[in-house]
Amino acid sequence: MRKRITEYSTFFREFRRTFDTTGALAPSGPFLARALARPLREHVGGPMRILEVGPGTGAVTQEIVRHIRPNDCLHIVELNDRFVALLKRRFDAEPRFRRVAAQTSIFHAPVQELKVEAPYDYIVCGLPFNNFPPELVESIFRHLIGMLQPSGCMTFFEYLWVRPFKKLVASREQRQRVVEVGGVLRRYLAQYERAQDRVFLNVLPAVAHYLRHESCGNGNGNGNGNARLRHDAAEH
Ligand SMILES: C[S@@+](CC[C@H](N)C(=O)[O-])C[C@H]1O[C@@H](n2cnc3c(N)ncnc32)[C@H](O)[C@@H]1O
Repeated sequence: MRKRITEYSTFFREFRRTFDTTGALAPSGPFLARALARPLREHVGGPMRILEVGPGTGAVTQEIVRHIRPNDCLHIVELNDRFVALLKRRFDAEPRFRRVAAQTSIFHAPVQELKVEAPYDYIVCGLPFNNFPPELVESIFRHLIGMLQPSGCMTFFEYLWVRPFKKLVASREQRQRVVEVGGVLRRYLAQYERAQDRVFLNVLPAVAHYLRHESCGNGNGNGNGNARLRHDAAEH
């Protein structure tokens, strides 16, 4: 319980201190974390290389680590030094994190500066794209898609109705930014999205998007296929 309180209070403090990059009031809940990690859960085959982008306090990381097997490799990239410090403590102290600590590297950096030696099978991204300038969203997407194996899968989430809401309450300048961010996201989703999950049991309700390169997938609609599907969130 004390761990939970530390997680939530750190997250809320960072939300107030660095709103633009933290982008949420609270960490993702377990249903959203499960939706984002779904392709890892359904992985069959050899060792996985996984990248988590923007883990914050580790709400999604704690779901990811459940699926790490002995030869897998997890890279985590986080911009905020306080979140990095908290995560390192979790990998030192909590058994489910400690189990995979030797297979995990934490990079304290903006993801757009991350250099990789080999592409990833799975990218799980928690960035608040709707808070960013459109040029940054574009360059991060290009970078992430470029780091994805041809057969790989990337997941990311957005809060439902966040762009229409921001457009209603924001200044003219912010509205223009949100419209342009929406344009960038729509373009990438049109090209790469294969499935999506709506998760209503989360603060706030969200949609998890599953992205893949065009020619890949097994067509089973679980984010591992080519069909554009909407999963039933009740499944989680
Ligand atoms: C909405 S929070 C998500 C946290 C966590 N994944 C969750 O779902 O609870 C966004 C996270 O992305 C991080 N972040 C923002 N911009 C980043 C960047 N350019 N590179 C890496 N991390 C970034 C923030 O510091 C924050 O931890």
